[in-house]
Amino acid sequence: MPALFPESASTMASRVDALYFFLIAVAVFFSVLIAGLIVYFAVRYRRRTPEGVGVNIHGGLLLEIAWTVIPALIAAVIFVWGASVFFAMSRPPDETLNIYVVGKQWMWKFQHLDGQREINELHVPVGRAVKLIMTSEDVIHDVFVPAFRVKADVLPGRYTNIWFQATKPGRYHLFCAEYCGTRHSGMIGEVIVMEPSEYEAWLSGSRVEGSLASTGEKLFQDLACITCHRADTQGRGPVLQGLFGKTVQLQGGETVVADEAYIRESILRPAAKITAGYQPIMPTFQGLISEEQLLELVEYVKSLNTQQSPAK
Ligand code: CUA
Repeated sequence: MPALFPESASTMASRVDALYFFLIAVAVFFSVLIAGLIVYFAVRYRRRTPEGVGVNIHGGLLLEIAWTVIPALIAAVIFVWGASVFFAMSRPPDETLNIYVVGKQWMWKFQHLDGQREINELHVPVGRAVKLIMTSEDVIHDVFVPAFRVKADVLPGRYTNIWFQATKPGRYHLFCAEYCGTRHSGMIGEVIVMEPSEYEAWLSGSRVEGSLASTGEKLFQDLACITCHRADTQGRGPVLQGLFGKTVQLQGGETVVADEAYIRESILRPAAKITAGYQPIMPTFQGLISEEQLLELVEYVKSLNTQQSPAK
């Protein structure tokens, strides 16, 4: 007998299934109730004599209230329950293992912080919250891991996140769930959930050229970003140490939180948001660097927060 739900292998799976089961149960209950009543009334109130005519009914207040209030209550339960699951899914825990994802026609590219790169395969440890920071090189894709009950669009030009915590080792399907061209159906992969020790062994067994942040640092020098963005106050560009996660004061009085999207935009379209006190002199890097290189630079800027002990 096929199972009602796909295999569940994340902390979110049972919560999603419980809600889904409730929706099915409500639908089945009322479908059966209504169908049953139709049949029952058809028999019970059938025309018994050729001249038999029913009595006119002019509404009933109690009935009106009952069939308004009961569905409203059920809808409220679905809303509150659904919202709580939605918030749990959309807010990752503070401590997550971050992995970058770049979708393109037609493959998935994964970048681990230590520098490991994978295509169409993603290795993660069991029992740890993993956050995927995702973007696309071309069109809209969508990451879907049924066993984890997580699914999110992957969009060109911006970062989207999902998180999950796998509960048992194994290999799980990864699908693209947004039609993205001829080979959309072939844009599939596997998430390989491993015991922490196995995962460590896998990490250290993979050939890497350096962590994402160190590759980013090298790029930062190669692109000559370093000539303006300097840690001493001599630079013509804003200091990047301790920047990530902070609120930045912009020209014109607005503020913006320095997250991944802000750093990405500042590299590709530097004129979009000028930090107060600086001139719009930075050249654009649009078309000059790939999504992967952008992620390396973002990760380098992030790493500047931990290298430096912030003076408060
Ligand atoms: Cu990528 Cu469908």
